[in-house]
Amino acid sequence: MSDDKPAIEAPTSLLQISAFDADARENPHPRLKALRETCPVLRDEAVKTWLLTRYDDIRATVNDRTFVRQPSKAEEGSLSRMLANPDDPNGRRSSILFQDDPDHSRNRLPLVKAFYARIKKMEPEIEAMIDRIIDAAPASGRFDLMEHIAVPIPILIIAHILGVDESRLPEFRDWSEGIILSLNPMRTAEETAYMEASGEKLDAYFTELMTARRNDPRDDLISDMVQAQADGGDFDDDELRVNLQALLVGGNLTTTDLIGNGVWLFLTHPEQLEALKADPSLGAAAVEEVLRYEAPVQATSRIVSEDREVAGCPMKKSQPVFMSLAAANRDPGKFETPEDFDITVKRSSHVSFGGGAHICIGAPLARIEARRVYLKLFERYPDMKLPDQDIEWRSLPFFRGIERLEVEV
Ligand code: HEM
Repeated sequence: MSDDKPAIEAPTSLLQISAFDADARENPHPRLKALRETCPVLRDEAVKTWLLTRYDDIRATVNDRTFVRQPSKAEEGSLSRMLANPDDPNGRRSSILFQDDPDHSRNRLPLVKAFYARIKKMEPEIEAMIDRIIDAAPASGRFDLMEHIAVPIPILIIAHILGVDESRLPEFRDWSEGIILSLNPMRTAEETAYMEASGEKLDAYFTELMTARRNDPRDDLISDMVQAQADGGDFDDDELRVNLQALLVGGNLTTTDLIGNGVWLFLTHPEQLEALKADPSLGAAAVEEVLRYEAPVQATSRIVSEDREVAGCPMKKSQPVFMSLAAANRDPGKFETPEDFDITVKRSSHVSFGGGAHICIGAPLARIEARRVYLKLFERYPDMKLPDQDIEWRSLPFFRGIERLEVEV
């Protein structure tokens, strides 16, 4: 076999590259490489879904606004269709994540406007909160970085941005943990009950906050949104509530994993850690390289809206197209030395936040948080080490994150 042939057989199903599969969970990259090189447009008939793995095909597809997202528009029996809510055939009650225009833009634009302005305004506060959380972590010995730092930071910060009252924080954290279970298709009946109860309690709490902020506006995102609505914003209370929940579902686990994956990568690449410590201005590049190298969200999807060619293959209306963002990010056609984790080289932009109409709205926040965590953490703990341990990767399909990360300080 010549050197440029993939060392392993290309997978034939999406399951084989998802975190349900033990090998893919441990390290999805060899299989993704094999697919990218030998079968960049895979058809998985069992789940009636296409899978793309090349950067150019994926970039073109995420950016193409003629594809749709609403699960009920996907073929019966396909992967995307499993997410459809039969009680909401037009997606009117779903979050922007699964809406199409005109509802998508109508709901997304005011939210993006208020969210970006808020993050910009709150950046110093966000950084100060991160510093406080890191300063409160154990001063010496061994601890789980996920438990003390990577899990609490994103939840506390989004709570602060939204305007959650300090006294309600413990409940809010609990409900947030509950609704994040919506990402897990393998949840138990007990977890589903916890998820549903959390969703109801969060809705009730958001309703309470919206009423309170209408009467007495404060310096927070919920005040911004009820004000935008009063100023003629074309979205109702149900739409606002479901999108506030989307900020929690979309933003917590992903940012947690960006923090965890990054700390693991730096501790396993000491020369990169030294480069970062020597030049903190590499902080932003460090975040981009972690996002590229171990993308917390490994895949996104679109649905074909009319019979057409995609990535050179004929596809039919209503067929879902999954895209491996992780595979695109290591495509040698786009990135030099893609298998090297290197924060010092200038790279093309990764696709870890997707693109086009649905590009992640939380990207600026995730970037601020991860950058501050990496810099502050290695400043507070200059001798942080990774003790011997078995790293257990999350078994959530299409997410990549570490369950527990013991560090020694
Ligand atoms: C490292 C952290 C994050 C990653 C890797 C990530 C990744 C993604 C990806 C891949 C998408 C789909 C984009 C597409 O299909 O084109 C997305 C959408 C979304 N993300 Fe994030 N995200 C992160 C953090 C956040 C945060 C912090 C928030 C909010 C506070 C957030 C909220 C959302 C929302 C609401 C959407 C749906 C946007 C739409 O469909 O219009 N995300 N994210």
